[in-house]
Amino acid sequence: MSHNYSPQTATFPVVRMRRLRYNKLIRELVQENAVTADKLIYPLFIRQGKNIRTPINSMPGVFQLSIDELVREVEELRTLGIGGILLFGIPDVKDSCGSDATSDNGIIAQAVRAAKDAAQNKLLVITDLCFCEYTDHGHCGILTNRTGQTDVDNDATLKIIAEQALVHARAGADLIAPSGMIDGMIGAIRTALDMNQFEHLPMMSYAAKYASGFYGPFREAAESTPQFGDRRSYQMDPAAAAQQALREVELDLAEGADIVMVKPAMVYLDIMRMVREHFPNVPLAAYNVSGEYSMIKAAAERGWIDESRIVRETLTAIHRAGASIIITYWAKDIAKNVL
Ligand code: PBG
Repeated sequence: MSHNYSPQTATFPVVRMRRLRYNKLIRELVQENAVTADKLIYPLFIRQGKNIRTPINSMPGVFQLSIDELVREVEELRTLGIGGILLFGIPDVKDSCGSDATSDNGIIAQAVRAAKDAAQNKLLVITDLCFCEYTDHGHCGILTNRTGQTDVDNDATLKIIAEQALVHARAGADLIAPSGMIDGMIGAIRTALDMNQFEHLPMMSYAAKYASGFYGPFREAAESTPQFGDRRSYQMDPAAAAQQALREVELDLAEGADIVMVKPAMVYLDIMRMVREHFPNVPLAAYNVSGEYSMIKAAAERGWIDESRIVRETLTAIHRAGASIIITYWAKDIAKNVL
């Protein structure tokens, strides 16, 4: 196996090793050992309102929460020793450029402030940074017709991505997770953060994210289904050369990513292994996505498989493939030892 990544590609101030050392929780997050609660991240879907706890049909055990319910949830989670929560905002009003996401009073800003307060620094408050939950067309950025087809305008989107990152940072996010697969997004965010005294704030990049059918149930949860077309012009083709994933990771690292992610997890273990081997000195995360969750839940509900056994086997496989950090809808059940 050749190791052609040169750590010299990027250097200070794009790279700051201290971003992953600035408090105990983030240091623990990047330690490497077996699957334990402190390496798990729990996704949560947040919307406006009060006393809202709406079940997601296709994801038994997962809910859309209003902020008061989020606070109650975080108060419980902070005693369980999980690594962090990953917040997704679902605004009441969506428009063509996802304005709610760039407002300091938008749903995600409110959710982060409330979660940070309730977390009392016992878990990391992580934000998914993307536009698909905020736009009325459901795509991950601003649209253009310039290319002869309606598509996400890469460079116009970078500008609002940077604004979105500052909203998350000002609200107090501990770690930002950009998921839009827009070229240059990590660099654009890093620059915006560094110019605004957030040079300590780390990023976990959805670096190798595939255009996947496994996101189906998530789009019900986040109400982010594209209103036309699909995401194949920005997310990776599952049939592309596996090496394309290395290129994505390499670019994100050069732009200042601190942690990189492979997504989905279960059918991309080969990619994880490859990334692990080529970048042995970078923390690797995997997203055990909604479709992976729903398949196991559905089969378990029918009594066809043993949920607890299969989940533990799955998470172990992801860890074995090289991902030390796992984002999973089972994080709470694992931490509570009810699985
Ligand atoms: C984009 C985003 C998606 C997921 C996480 N962040 C959806 C998509 O790319 O269409 C999917 C997560 C899952 O399926 O559990 N904001």
